Amino acid sequence: MARLKVENLSFSFGYDTILEEMDFEINEGEVVSIVGPSGGGKTTLLRLCAGLLDRQDGKIENSFTTQSIAFQDPRLLPWKNVIDNIAFGLKAMGVSTEEREKRAKEIALKFDLEESDFDKFPKELSGGMSQRVSFARALVTKPKLLFLDEPFSALDIGLKRELQNHIMELIAKKEITIFFITHDIMEAIRLSDKILLLSPDPVGKIVKEFTFDTPQPKRDNEYVYSQTAKILSDRDIIETFELEFK
Ligand SMILES: Nc1ncnc2c1ncn2[C@@H]1O[C@H](COP(=O)(O)OP(=O)(O)O)[C@@H](O)[C@H]1O
Ligand SMILES: [Mg+2]
Repeated sequence: MARLKVENLSFSFGYDTILEEMDFEINEGEVVSIVGPSGGGKTTLLRLCAGLLDRQDGKIENSFTTQSIAFQDPRLLPWKNVIDNIAFGLKAMGVSTEEREKRAKEIALKFDLEESDFDKFPKELSGGMSQRVSFARALVTKPKLLFLDEPFSALDIGLKRELQNHIMELIAKKEITIFFITHDIMEAIRLSDKILLLSPDPVGKIVKEFTFDTPQPKRDNEYVYSQTAKILSDRDIIETFELEFK
């Protein structure tokens, strides 16, 4: 079974220690979320795990054969149209031009982009459309491991739910493993098997782990709200997010 295993990982920018002694693993088919306040090192941790940042101390073992990333900002290539942006990763995999186009169009339609949008360039797209393209691009390659760095944060509530539902389908079919970064606890509860709380104070460390056994598709609003209420009264959460009333 494929897994991502992080062992005794520490990381500094210059003299600033950002992460210290991180230990966790993500097994195939799991959704693991990292929650924590802004500036706490979540993106740094994701970049290390995805191999976008060079490791300093500790070990990262990643045995997934394919992976992709979606960020909070869509990061599309401005000189490529919608379909070519989506198909970009397929090209690197050696998929033929014809097949690339076919798959890119299929997934674009699935993500509610319209045929009249296919030839548009990023500057002609709304924020929501760009985010749909970004998601389609991350998923068109059918990655075994998906890194998500607050991909829903800037979206309106409808689009957020729609994209979450796409992800939910993949989760339900056990087709994907997800390393999910968010500062939205409710969103983490909806999607995760496990939530790791990353506390930045005094340095980034995982201080708590919450696990959820109810299968994701069975988590209705009532479940999500009640779990959220429970977690928001957790001492470590209150301290980490500074939720205390003064
Ligand atoms: N390239 C960089 N060079 C120096 N410091 C950085 C760099 N990237 C992030 N940092 C610092 O590392 C800390 C953690 O940042 P980040 O991982 O982006 O946190 P989060 O994603 O939780 O908001 C912050 O203090 C940030 O200023
Ligand atoms: Mg971040």
